[in-house]
Amino acid sequence: EIHFFFPKQQTLAIIKPDAMAEHREEILGEIRAAGFSISQLKEAVLSRDMAEELYREHRDKPFYRQLVDFMCSGPCMLLVLTKENTVEEWRSMMGPTDPVLAKVTAPGSLRARFASDILHNALHGSSNQEHAQEKIHFLFGDITSDRDLTSNGKMDP
Ligand code: TYD
Repeated sequence: EIHFFFPKQQTLAIIKPDAMAEHREEILGEIRAAGFSISQLKEAVLSRDMAEELYREHRDKPFYRQLVDFMCSGPCMLLVLTKENTVEEWRSMMGPTDPVLAKVTAPGSLRARFASDILHNALHGSSNQEHAQEKIHFLFGDITSDRDLTSNGKMDP
């Protein structure tokens, strides 16, 4: 009998300011229902510097300034999700960047349901493992324990 072992992987997920008031609990519920472990979770208003660093790869894009403005416009929920193949699975659960496209190609995705437009698109997910590790370290520092906060969604005291 052959057993395949898929190591657990981490990704950074963010509930963006546009989705916090209305959709946060539903999104957190769906994350848990899909089998992700929520290893870290914190609510924060990003400073300009933090938002700029988070999206540093996009600094030359025409939408960069708007994106940074939006990301610091209110509280975000920052999450570290742990699962097998989590980077790809979380991106697939979010759906395409633009909700116009998401509604056509992935109508059940979170962005199809909760995003308003390509900028105010409810969610962030790292695009690859290298970015995930870099941004998780940037936003959470050294994570010493891998806590599973899936059941109650709260940080340990
Ligand atoms: P990107 O990394 O291309 O998309 P994703 O979040 O799906 O990985 O872009 C980062 C964010 O920049 C995106 O979530 C919303 C914003 N954005 C715009 O405002 N306009 C655009 O044309 C694009 C491509 C992105």
